[in-house]
Amino acid sequence: MTTLAQASLSRRLAVLSLASLAASATLAQNSSYEPQRGQAGKDVIWIPTPDETVTRMLQMVEVKPSDRVFDLGSGDGKIAIAAAREFGARATGLEYNPDMVTFSQRRAQEAGVADKVQFRQADIFQSDFSSATVVTMYLLPELNLRLRPLLFKMAPGTRVVSHSFTMGDWTPDETARAGVGDVYMWLVPANASGSWKLVANGLADASLSLSQRYQVLSGDGLFGDLRASLVRPRIAGEQLSFGLRDPKGQLWQFEGKVAGNRITGTATRSGQAGVPFEARRNGDSAPIAGLASTAELSASALAASLAR
Ligand SMILES: C[S@@+](CC[C@H](N)C(=O)[O-])C[C@H]1O[C@@H](n2cnc3c(N)ncnc32)[C@H](O)[C@@H]1O
Repeated sequence: MTTLAQASLSRRLAVLSLASLAASATLAQNSSYEPQRGQAGKDVIWIPTPDETVTRMLQMVEVKPSDRVFDLGSGDGKIAIAAAREFGARATGLEYNPDMVTFSQRRAQEAGVADKVQFRQADIFQSDFSSATVVTMYLLPELNLRLRPLLFKMAPGTRVVSHSFTMGDWTPDETARAGVGDVYMWLVPANASGSWKLVANGLADASLSLSQRYQVLSGDGLFGDLRASLVRPRIAGEQLSFGLRDPKGQLWQFEGKVAGNRITGTATRSGQAGVPFEARRNGDSAPIAGLASTAELSASALAASLAR
């Protein structure tokens, strides 16, 4: 090797060892980082959800190993880590503070779930979490309201759980109130609004006219000039159920699944075996009522908080 080549190699080695020194210094610095309860965050401060509330939240959304959990504003990572360690799910934490991201990555390693959990430095309002089957959060009422239109774009059946804060007038499907704190759970509903042609063996020609406000469904069945209200209509994620009394006065119970412009399932008359049914939407769905613009949401959130 020439003297020149030797000099160049030792310079490169020196640069490499300086880089690795810098990396281990960063690691040492990060490994001594301890978050402070109440420390500032981008849109909300950091306060960790208590352990028993975390467990309750994850129980309410029935996390399974096949789930993909996203914690929005993941802090020290405890919700994502618990989703992996206690429920076997894959989980992602989105957190704006890079020190917290490094801290939670270390926590995930210590908990032995680093292969199932990842943390990303990101602004939740600039992030794509549409692949989530479960979304968890402990933010603020107005941040929940900003997220609401995004949540409604997610796949029907996506489960959403929030510690402490509601989603304005989107009523939760389940709540818990105990010493451990308030927890609210919602299922993202499919959009069943609009006019549908309904076909089932043995049922007279019928159409359905459905309107929906969040997950609250109402509507009528139309048989020629007979308009009969739906009996106890319900939508839970993509699952739809309702009763409908036909022109002969017989009550049918429909249980089906909404997939885009089609509903399929089983229709049952009392004392009879169920038959398959299908409904096809005529034209487009109307937007789900209740989803106002962000400006209106902020104004209504402000009005609600002033009224309290
Ligand atoms: C109240 S803490 C909740 C932490 C954790 N989810 C829990 O329940 O223990 C809120 C977290 O959101 C983070 N945060 C605030 N605004 C954010 C934003 N726009 N994008 C990502 N993270 C944010 C804060 O840094 C903080 O760690």
